[in-house]
Amino acid sequence: MNIPFPTLLEKAIQLVNSEKSNQTVLFEITKLLQQEVAHYNWVGFYALDKPNAMLRLGPYSGLPTEHTEIPVGKGVCGQVALSLKSKIVQDVRKEENYISCSIDVKSEIVIPIIKNGEFVAEIDIDSNTPSPFTADDEEFLVRLCLALADRF
Ligand code: SME
Repeated sequence: MNIPFPTLLEKAIQLVNSEKSNQTVLFEITKLLQQEVAHYNWVGFYALDKPNAMLRLGPYSGLPTEHTEIPVGKGVCGQVALSLKSKIVQDVRKEENYISCSIDVKSEIVIPIIKNGEFVAEIDIDSNTPSPFTADDEEFLVRLCLALADRF
């Protein structure tokens, strides 16, 4: 059974507040989420490379992906970089602007990370379960992204 989101958020915030480096903290958060939430199969961060309008893959946990850079506007990740709004795709087959990382992935959630009023990065979570995401996932991840924005 998954640990409750408030407990998971507390653990993640402890990492954010630790003395560890930004990359270590971000990686350990991806690992924590991927290990503790059964429907989170791939968890990673993409950071904005503003001059090149590109998202670049940062720390992640899960299978390696060939999509280490994604143009702003492309795929679910690229859409969020433009809209600056969270996006839940419960069935990736129904998403026209989608970049597939693995045929096992059924659904995806992406939450923007805003620092000093500007979009700097996003957290991307792939699930091998169809339609697994609820308002609780979104609320948890929005809170997490608020808490960790200064690590970008
Ligand atoms: N599916 C994403 C691409 C990134 S992978 O999920 C790791 C997208 O459509 O943007």
